[in-house]
Amino acid sequence: MSKQQKTTSTEISDRFWNLPQKAGEETQRELTFIDDIIAKAHIERLLLENLDGIHTAFDGGAGYGRFSIPLAKRGVKVTHFDISEGMIAKAKEIADQEGVAENITFVHGALEDLTEFGDRQFDMVMSFDAPISYTYPNHETVMSNLVRIASKRLVISVYSRLAWTYLFDPAQKAKYILDKSTNDPLARWTLDHTLGQLTEFKPNMTEVREFFKTGLMEKTEDTAAEYDKGKSPWPVSYSFMPDELIAILQKFGARNIKLSGPGALSRSIPGEVLRNIMQDEPLKQNFLDFCFWYDSQPSCLGMGKDNIVAIADVLP
Ligand SMILES: C[S@@+](CC[C@H](N)C(=O)[O-])C[C@H]1O[C@@H](n2cnc3c(N)ncnc32)[C@H](O)[C@@H]1O
Repeated sequence: MSKQQKTTSTEISDRFWNLPQKAGEETQRELTFIDDIIAKAHIERLLLENLDGIHTAFDGGAGYGRFSIPLAKRGVKVTHFDISEGMIAKAKEIADQEGVAENITFVHGALEDLTEFGDRQFDMVMSFDAPISYTYPNHETVMSNLVRIASKRLVISVYSRLAWTYLFDPAQKAKYILDKSTNDPLARWTLDHTLGQLTEFKPNMTEVREFFKTGLMEKTEDTAAEYDKGKSPWPVSYSFMPDELIAILQKFGARNIKLSGPGALSRSIPGEVLRNIMQDEPLKQNFLDFCFWYDSQPSCLGMGKDNIVAIADVLP
């Protein structure tokens, strides 16, 4: 790996995800944002419906344990792998509280180096909410290694290029905020700064076309320069086109690949209606169930929250 690649991938992720507030913020996502509720419910259901013959799992970029812990509760032996010690500490705390710590092995490491794991070591390999996208420019090698260590199934989510319509609507996230009086920093910033800008806002078509061509929002050199100044910039992340994701997975031996775009239906629902749905528990469950079906239709794939989800078989 060249110095440039190492700086922009592993080192920045390491610094960024280890910021003291990160683990706490991640645990609040589903208490604050409706699109996160929809996306996480979709992934959890997909996992739980596909546990047949799965006794061991690897969760790459497992965060505070949003998916490793539910699997451990079902008796799966999970290797919870993450670049951030802070995330791992939070996940350990929750696993202890839930009484499932003995089913989880916590490993601190970067997805860019999976040499400690053997070929076909885990029945299922998973990685959610875009850790693979953060490994740019090494994302393809990372994916080949994720397939390598899986023996039956691969379930991942990565940034979706087609979902990135924020460039035309900086306030898009506002309608997903559950409680408008929240103190969550991202929600507050969205409510206080982006809504007021809309009457003046015009999209920058050069920026839009550049992003949709390259899949990169941040410029590698700028991010590296900020890092060198001691800052913790947002890691450079790569957004995939759906067909590209399928082609990469097939190249490394994954088969029966199915994609979905959690959040697609919610795009066309006003915030007021989404909030009403979330406050009525039976309706919420019914709605999430319907979203799972709707968002799994290939024709609405690009319009998810921001991630494409892929499930695939890994055949010998
Ligand atoms: C948005 S969080 C998602 C956490 C969890 N998978 C979920 O869906 O709730 C991204 C996680 O990926 C981890 N991560 C980022 N880059 C990584 C890398 N190169 N190797 C391993 N983990 C990484 C971060 O520390 C963070 O916990």
